[in-house]
Amino acid sequence: MDLKVEYLDDGSSFQTVDPLMLNPEYLTNFSIFERFPKKGNKYRFRCLIVDMDSITVDKLTSVLKSWEVVYVHKKHLKYYNKHIKDNLEYILKHGTLDVKKKTATLTKVSTDVIKDVFDTHLTGTVVSPDTIKRVEKLISHAIDFIKDIDSLKGIADLIGHDYETHTHSLKVAWLIAIFINANRDLFPKQPNAHFKQYLVTATVAGLMHDLGKTKIPKNILNKKGKLDNLEYITVQSHTAYSLSLLFESTLPKFAMQAILYHHENEDGSGYPCGLKDEQIPLLAKITHIIDVFDALTAKRSYKEPKTPFEALRIMAGENPHIEALTKFEEEVRENKKVPIETIVRNEPDIKRRRLREKEMMEKEAQKRVEARLKLRDQGMAHCFDKDLMNRFIITINKSQSFDLSGLL
Ligand SMILES: [Fe+2]
Ligand SMILES: [Fe+2]
Repeated sequence: MDLKVEYLDDGSSFQTVDPLMLNPEYLTNFSIFERFPKKGNKYRFRCLIVDMDSITVDKLTSVLKSWEVVYVHKKHLKYYNKHIKDNLEYILKHGTLDVKKKTATLTKVSTDVIKDVFDTHLTGTVVSPDTIKRVEKLISHAIDFIKDIDSLKGIADLIGHDYETHTHSLKVAWLIAIFINANRDLFPKQPNAHFKQYLVTATVAGLMHDLGKTKIPKNILNKKGKLDNLEYITVQSHTAYSLSLLFESTLPKFAMQAILYHHENEDGSGYPCGLKDEQIPLLAKITHIIDVFDALTAKRSYKEPKTPFEALRIMAGENPHIEALTKFEEEVRENKKVPIETIVRNEPDIKRRRLREKEMMEKEAQKRVEARLKLRDQGMAHCFDKDLMNRFIITINKSQSFDLSGLL
């Protein structure tokens, strides 16, 4: 221990901790402090247990129970964070800790783990079987916790937050776990004894589905306007990149297929292969629905989030302008030039004239992107499997956190 027994501090060197988050059995490598009222502008912090080794687990349990909050010195935060990560199962199973705190802990630990995976693979290193095992262990604890439909409340808190690839991946993974667990009859071939393993693997697939985005240049990924043909194909290649990064991971075929095909549309208008109907594997169809639901309900730099109700209505709605939309989609796919009616003829300087024309084309292209999104928001039913979409709405509706009255 490199800490003193007592400190006079304005509070900024300490972090508040809920004592119920601490597992008394493994509390050996960091100190816990109590705080006395402020005198002047400083608090007195005193170490609760000076010699951790000499106290019994029972005694420690009752000491922890007697405090509402305790404090950890920021110098010891890394040990505290490791403690939380190593004792996630204990925390999630803790009878008296409230669900919000458990969800927050699970979110933090999983975000750290997935960030770690994404950051490591930024360099292009492939995902090892060991990494998958580590993630599977985390997912297995998480599934035991969120399997109960009530935990959707926790997920609901997350929906509508900022969209970053790793948070998006986490939400997709959790929703996949909840969906599959609530719709076990879709998987009659999975015997009960193996169901949990199937659930874990499917969730890992959800967590990894966009891993390939780490290979796509950020300026293309976040571009607001129309993507040109090369940029469009580059973005689409994230599915294949995810697959190649996971090639040596030992993930089974159904998980790999879900990752590769999570952008395929039911009517064949998706990518990378333009598969339709029965050609698209079940888990890929499920991942697709959940992926779009999360993208619509997330806040992006260029758009406000839709409510879950709005998102589901768009996703389940038949599009009355499907022909116009298909035309737009073709235009994007084939990278057709935007027709411009007005040509700047009276600009004598040829360079300036070209520049002006380019500006106008870009403006027009931007308008078309907006028009296309508006058209798409009129209904996306052609993208998804109808039965799965209904099941998804029912699953989401089971949680009281989403008000979907009028949609069912
Ligand atoms: Fe994707
Ligand atoms: Fe995604």
